[in-house]
Amino acid sequence: MKLTLQETVQCLNAGGNVAIPTETVYGLAASLKSPEAISNIFKIKSRPLGNPLIVHVSSVKDISFAKVDLPDFDKLTHAFWPGPLSLVLPLLADLDKQVTAGLLTVAVRCPAHDLCRSLLAMTGPLVAPSANPSGKPSPTQAEHVERDYEGKVAVLDGGACRSGVESTILAWDSQIQKWVLARLGSLEALSIEKVLGYSLERRLKADVAVCPGQKWRHYAPKAELTLERPTSFEDIAVIGFNERSYKGAKIYSLGSIQSSGKCLENLYETLRRLDIDEISKAWIDLDFPLEGLWETLRERLIKASSK
Ligand code: TXA
Ligand code: MG
Repeated sequence: MKLTLQETVQCLNAGGNVAIPTETVYGLAASLKSPEAISNIFKIKSRPLGNPLIVHVSSVKDISFAKVDLPDFDKLTHAFWPGPLSLVLPLLADLDKQVTAGLLTVAVRCPAHDLCRSLLAMTGPLVAPSANPSGKPSPTQAEHVERDYEGKVAVLDGGACRSGVESTILAWDSQIQKWVLARLGSLEALSIEKVLGYSLERRLKADVAVCPGQKWRHYAPKAELTLERPTSFEDIAVIGFNERSYKGAKIYSLGSIQSSGKCLENLYETLRRLDIDEISKAWIDLDFPLEGLWETLRERLIKASSK
């Protein structure tokens, strides 16, 4: 069911849940002021309770609940907000424990999507994880949400998401007094490093992960995804690139090998098409550069293929 902006505001203010557009992926939103709606997010998505939520704000001024007086916070927000950068900040005021999963920090982001910004200006801070059922590819179109929940979740349709993958997450590490990289995303780490003037320590692997979410399986279609190159492509499904030839294969192209941004934009839609076509097994062509946004693409594909 699609809602207008006005209906979305009413629904969220009345303690309901609505899937909302952002520039990265659609989020399943609840008002920060509605404990019941926040609790329903976990039920609707079958999300583990130990996985905290990102708070979405329309500007830095909305952040009354976290410490923003941190080195380079202004530099980062001036350079990248609104935009696909989430910041894990020390908690100041008591927030609903469901939002933080009991941590002493809270993740905050300011989306760069006009409709989402109009919404946030009217509702105040909204918590929103990606709107997919836990473990599945994230939705990048309103139709994805409708299909995932068979029309039972209300959606504010803001068109297709520009970036197509989730925000990059940085966390403030008070021990080393630096920002560290907690999730690869649609903002390139190198652009952030240029602003900060130092290289970001990566805290991505399960043993050092800052984000509890790194522990769980993600982005996976129903098909078994394999990274082992097949000896023949005959009758095989391949997730690959426009310029490559995979003779005999059913090809699911992410786009041109010239454009990491476009490939990321197409990623979840491509994984979702495997499900629609009832593909049971597909090979992923991981032969692409490791730098820039390619690193994010590789990480998402490897996660999608993990058991
Ligand atoms: O682009 C995005 O960030 C999208 C859109 C909807 O804004 N949201 C999103 O939310 O990707 P979600 O819930 O799918 O992923 C949030 C990640 C999870 O891995 C979670 O563990 C981590 O952020 N996270 C949230 N709060 C945290 C905190 N206080 N400390 C560390 N990690 C946190
Ligand atoms: Mg997610």
